[in-house]
Amino acid sequence: MRIGVVHGANLRLLGRREPEIYGSESLPDIEARIRDLADELDVLVEFFQSNHEGEILDYLEDAAPRVDGFVVNPGAFTHTSVALRDALVGVDRPFVEVHLSNTAARERFRRHSYLAPVAAGVVYGFGSESYLLGLRGLVARLRS
Ligand code: DQA
Repeated sequence: MRIGVVHGANLRLLGRREPEIYGSESLPDIEARIRDLADELDVLVEFFQSNHEGEILDYLEDAAPRVDGFVVNPGAFTHTSVALRDALVGVDRPFVEVHLSNTAARERFRRHSYLAPVAAGVVYGFGSESYLLGLRGLVARLRS
């Protein structure tokens, strides 16, 4: 089993970006933890980060034939991108939407997600643990 893990806008700033909200771990730190869990679950993972919406759409289309599903933290594209939702539906792979912060407890504009209604599940508010919970949930779904 192979899972694509996608980080959207501004997530390569993790560790330096608003640490009181997003924590002190860098993106490579988080990816190392995801890789450890993937080994434990006996699945392969690949990572992609971009600040450019179109590049994420291209990645999803390119990766879909070789992966079984996606774990996606779209960053701010969550709240803005119909195109990302259409791409995730279009490639026809289950995905889990994850967020480090509790988006429901923040500004009103973060409460709406274009992706959540078409996701297999959503995990938010657990810091980097959200990615791990999302990966576990997705793998369990794919194996069931
Ligand atoms: C985020 C939440 C989004 O609202 C925000 O735009 C981000 C990060 C999170 O992981 O908590 O960039 O996706």
